[in-house]
Formats: sequence, C-alpha cells, structure tokens
Amino acid sequence: MRSGDKLIVGLVGLVLVAAIGNGIYTANHPLEDKGIPFYSTLSEIEQVKGADLYRDLSCRNCHTIWAVKNIMETIPAPSLDGIGSLRSETWLYDYFSAKDPQSILPTRLKKKYAQPSYASLPEEKRRLLAKYFASLKVKDWYLQETKAAEYKKLTGKIYSQDQAQAQ
Ligand code: HEC
Repeated sequence: MRSGDKLIVGLVGLVLVAAIGNGIYTANHPLEDKGIPFYSTLSEIEQVKGADLYRDLSCRNCHTIWAVKNIMETIPAPSLDGIGSLRSETWLYDYFSAKDPQSILPTRLKKKYAQPSYASLPEEKRRLLAKYFASLKVKDWYLQETKAAEYKKLTGKIYSQDQAQAQ
C-alpha cells in the first residue's frame, strides 16, 4: 500500500471505531439524550418567513433564539426560545402592537435597551411575528427542569410535585 492509501484505511478504521464506540456508549449510558428541547409547530416555509422578519427587524440585536447567542450584545433581553409555551398568540400580537410595551411588561432597563414598540409596523407583519413566536415551544420536561433549577437557586430547596401542583 502507498502511504496515501494507508492513511485512508486508517481514517476509515478510525471512523468505524468511533461509530462502534459511540453505539456502545449510548447503549450503556444511564442518561437518555433527550435532544434539543425547542421546536416550532409551523411548517418550514412559514418558519422561514418569521425568521426573516426577526432578522430584518434586528430583534437579534437584543434577543437570543435557537440558543444562538449574539456575542456582540450585552443587553439582558429574554431568550425567545420556547416563548410560545409561555405566551399566547393574542398576547404576543397585543405586545407587538402596543405603543408602550412596558405598560404590558414592565422593564428595569433604560428605554433604549427595553423592548421597542412595533405599533407602526403593518398589521400583517405584526400578525406574522405573533404567529411565529407563538409557534416556538419548549418541551415540557425542559420547562419542568428549568423551573426546578430556578426554584432551587431562589429557595435552596428541592422543587417537589407539591410545588408543581400549587402553581
Ligand atoms: C433594544 C433591544 C430589543 C429589541 C431590538 C427587541 N427587543 Fe424584545 N425585548 C427586549 C427586552 C429588554 C425585553 C424584556 C422587557 C423589557 O425590558 O422591555 C423584551 C421582551 C420581548 C418579549 C416578551 C418576552 C416575555 O418574557 O414574554 C418578546 C416576545 C419580544 N421581546 C420579542 C421581540 C421581537 C419579535 C423583536 C423584533 C421585532 C424584539 N423583541 C426586539 C429588548 C429588545
């Protein structure tokens, strides 16, 4: 074999070992990989329309979505992943249509960092935004885990089923 061939055989071998190793690893791994907890209920075509608008309106100057952080920004705006599990389409439409969004959701930030008003956008675009963000869901297990972690951080206690029911 020429050395180039050896290299290829070696590489294929490595890939095979990795594949087999990976198979064993996941089979014996005690924690099930639950995958990415965020998803959209819209078709891909509709998602693209929403994502385009999100980009064109520079929402990402402040917000994070699909867990991709905009490293240039330090504004503590909430991540919009899974927002549709927390807010309804109507709520979102009203929020984007409000002349003063802070009358709906108060802010602790200076005006220039707070949620801007999109009341002057054409209605069609506000509806599309509301539809898109309402479609962004978070899987229930992740929501429960996040709640439990937050509860522990705030109270130092373990989040139990009782607290879950009390909400
Ligand atoms: C200047 C920074 C900035 C821009 C630009 C911005 N936002 Fe926000 N947004 C915020 C902040 C900060 C909040 C939290 C409330 C507040 O402080 O006003 C927020 C809140 C929100 C919320 C409510 C989140 C919740 O907890 O319910 C939604 C939804 C939202 N923004 C969507 C958008 C969309 C869509 C765009 C683009 C059309 C956008 N934002 C543009 C800063 C921004």
